[in-house]
Amino acid sequence: MDKIRVLDKEFVPFLAEETIDLRISSLAEQINIDYAGKAPIFIAVLNGSFIFASDLFKKVTVAAQISFIKLASYKGTTSTGNVITAIGLEESLKGKDVILVEDIIDTGKTLSEFIPQLLLQAPASLRIASLLTKPDALKYDVKADYVGFEIPNKFVVGYGLDYDGYGRNIPSLYQLA
Ligand code: IMP
Ligand code: MG
Repeated sequence: MDKIRVLDKEFVPFLAEETIDLRISSLAEQINIDYAGKAPIFIAVLNGSFIFASDLFKKVTVAAQISFIKLASYKGTTSTGNVITAIGLEESLKGKDVILVEDIIDTGKTLSEFIPQLLLQAPASLRIASLLTKPDALKYDVKADYVGFEIPNKFVVGYGLDYDGYGRNIPSLYQLA
């Protein structure tokens, strides 16, 4: 496997398609056990998680729904800072078993701001599935329940993740050289 270029940066192979696929199979297996007899709703956070969410969802065998949201960050007018708003969440999550699907938890800021809002809807339960986490970059109190891979604090592209909007269509994961 060779180096690739996305815009102005070079990336080296990091996780192969087969490695990712195998790991997602075991996450799905665990979800199928944990949610036996339940009917969870997957909430996939766009754009980054669309490929992961799709591959994971196909391997889920319990009755399940999926919905997609975008998180938009607005500068708050007060000292509270940014306000995260979810676009596209039409159905009520009240009483539902929710699995939030992310591509990567980096500092944890995005989810630490969004999760309290989600909990206001009073879901029966909330768990987080993240393809990747960067434990060394984590600054906020966010913990994923289903983690594909814990990775070093280095920028990655591919498999839905982008560098400046590009690289999402690369089928495997690459790391900044
Ligand atoms: P956080 O709020 O710091 O956890 O950042 C989360 C978001 O930053 C992710 O959903 C990604 O969109 C983006 N991100 C963080 N690290 C990377 C990376 O290595 N590659 C591509 N996107 C990343
Ligand atoms: Mg994201």
